[in-house]
Amino acid sequence: MSELAERARPDARANFDLKDEIRDYWSKRSETFDLAFGHRIPHGPEFDAWQKPVRDFLGAKPLRVLELACGTGEVTRLIHDLGHDVTALDFSEAMLAVAGKKHAGKPRLRFLLADAENTMEPDERYDAIVCRHLVWTLTQPQATLGEWFRLLKPGGKLLVFDGDWAKPTTVGRLATWAIRQIDRVIGPDNHYDGALSDRHATIMQNLPFGEGLTAETLLPMLKLAGFGTIERTSHRPIAAAQRKTANLRNCLRTFVYRRFILCAHKPG
Ligand SMILES: C[S@@+](CC[C@H](N)C(=O)[O-])C[C@H]1O[C@@H](n2cnc3c(N)ncnc32)[C@H](O)[C@@H]1O
Repeated sequence: MSELAERARPDARANFDLKDEIRDYWSKRSETFDLAFGHRIPHGPEFDAWQKPVRDFLGAKPLRVLELACGTGEVTRLIHDLGHDVTALDFSEAMLAVAGKKHAGKPRLRFLLADAENTMEPDERYDAIVCRHLVWTLTQPQATLGEWFRLLKPGGKLLVFDGDWAKPTTVGRLATWAIRQIDRVIGPDNHYDGALSDRHATIMQNLPFGEGLTAETLLPMLKLAGFGTIERTSHRPIAAAQRKTANLRNCLRTFVYRRFILCAHKPG
């Protein structure tokens, strides 16, 4: 190719924006995502602990629930097994393929390939929206909260599980130091951070919540989007349940970041 032709060639990366980068990153992690501590939710005390806030906030009546960023379908199972109708959405085909295999043939569950920031779903279609570890990675968080408000019926609920993945707590810094010592002795856990961690760091730098997401940041944004009452519960029982079966390195991981669980209500 001549130098001129080379320069005129459309640059495939020119249209590859932050969201494409996020999708590509998660797609590459789809096959091993469940192997990283804290992602898969094993049956037993940990499953019960994750499911409790879903049961408490959504109630006993079967609902139409939208799960955003379902990934490999772990949270999907929590919601589905409580008797709800679930639409599990993700924008990564690779993630949906893993989730689809796990949950094949369940009549109350449908998968949807779509962008959580612009779902194209009808107004007021859902009684509840649930998402774990999505909000921190939104590229347009305020507009997206408005989108989720639009999708909820009056009286509907948005349940968010998330955390501040940028700033470890004080105890978390000590735990991180101890994890590094264990890594040095027995070798790193490739599935936890893995070879893609530099890429993760680059994505973080470009995100609106790249400096960390806290409940205190999210609360006024939820209010601005129109939500009324906002309830909060602790992640601690989940971490305690994880520690019952985790090895030492993973026990330490449960102390690193500050996590939160919020339930925002759309006025009825
Ligand atoms: C950290 S994983 C969490 C997966 C799942 N919620 C869980 O907790 O196991 C992030 C997921 O969000 C998805 N995701 C990120 N941004 C998204 C968007 N704008 N629309 C749909 N899915 C998105 C990724 O494809 C990935 O599956």
